[in-house]
Amino acid sequence: MAVWYRAADFFLSRLDAEAAHGLALRALKSGLLPGQRSGDPPSLGVALWGRRLANPIGLAAGFDKNAEVPDALLDLGFGAVEIGSVTPRPQDGNPRPRLFRLSEDRGVINRMGFPGQGLDAVRARLAARPRRGFVGVNVGANKDSADRAADYVACSAALAAYADYLVCNVSSPNTPGLRTLQGRVELSGLLRRVQDAIAAKRVPLVVKIAPDASDDDLDDIVAVCRDLRIDGIIVGNTTLSRPASLRSPRRTEAGGLSGTPLTALATEVLRKTAQRVERQFPLIGAGGVGSGADAYAKIRAGATLVQLYSMLVFEGPPLVGRIKDELLALLARDGFSSVADAVGADLR
Ligand SMILES: Cc1cc2nc3c(=O)[nH]c(=O)nc-3n(C[C@H](O)[C@H](O)[C@H](O)COP(=O)(O)O)c2cc1C
Repeated sequence: MAVWYRAADFFLSRLDAEAAHGLALRALKSGLLPGQRSGDPPSLGVALWGRRLANPIGLAAGFDKNAEVPDALLDLGFGAVEIGSVTPRPQDGNPRPRLFRLSEDRGVINRMGFPGQGLDAVRARLAARPRRGFVGVNVGANKDSADRAADYVACSAALAAYADYLVCNVSSPNTPGLRTLQGRVELSGLLRRVQDAIAAKRVPLVVKIAPDASDDDLDDIVAVCRDLRIDGIIVGNTTLSRPASLRSPRRTEAGGLSGTPLTALATEVLRKTAQRVERQFPLIGAGGVGSGADAYAKIRAGATLVQLYSMLVFEGPPLVGRIKDELLALLARDGFSSVADAVGADLR
């Protein structure tokens, strides 16, 4: 851990987790955090949907829900940044406390419930920024919505013009009933409506699924995505499962679990998804990435882009550079000259 972050962590780790997140956002807005000093080596570059990303390490949704600091996050060295989830109308989310560090387990439990400023505020911020880097927009539904699919359509249509890719997040465990949208009929209906709404915009459309999906669920999800020629799947969101190995007293809090306790499960579900997708479209791997080895395992299991959030809570921004250094060393050790050569290596 870098010295400057060790000092900041001393204070942040004593704060309520959501207060610490608020301070991190303010620090990013202030421009005071040190960014990445040099460019990434060409061997870390990846091609995705006809674009070139400097590296395959992305920031997962949920950190910058309202698109307040996408550029400061890109400057930390991420190859891609995903903002959201965005809902059509502003909403408060669940009562606090709703975000918990499981320090003993290097995990996080959250039941945020999509708090956010809503579509109009996010659109205004995205419209005001000069386009640069690779910024994805993740959309969801309001808790009290009568037609959830209509919420995804509204957000996608309004934000497609500002997005390098769009994500339909049908896997948050904290909006009751949302995960039923992963069912074959519901998912197909939802995605068709979104595709129609953004047909003129030519932005890649991706689905984010739960790591709790069963093999049968995966059969259905992948069949729908292949049938509709969806551009990618993110595997995945937080888990409702609670591994027996958890030691933190907060392990019984309700919500989605992320971070280290999720790593193996999420990589396994990614691998099963990749087996079904058969390289028809790219995959994005998220869940418990905290080292170059974790990122490399996801790439070998079929991910072109890897995302992380929770381990930033414990390691801070220096984590991004460390993961990239470790990943480079692992690629070299195994004789891969680029990330692309290693994608899906464990599936062959
Ligand atoms: C506090 C918190 C808020 C999150 N909010 C969202 C969200 O709004 N939309 C979404 O798709 N995923 C959200 N996620 C899930 C993350 O994007 C990611 O898929 C998951 O945490 C697994 O990655 P990680 O172990 O690196 O955190 C959230 C995660 C956390 C910890």
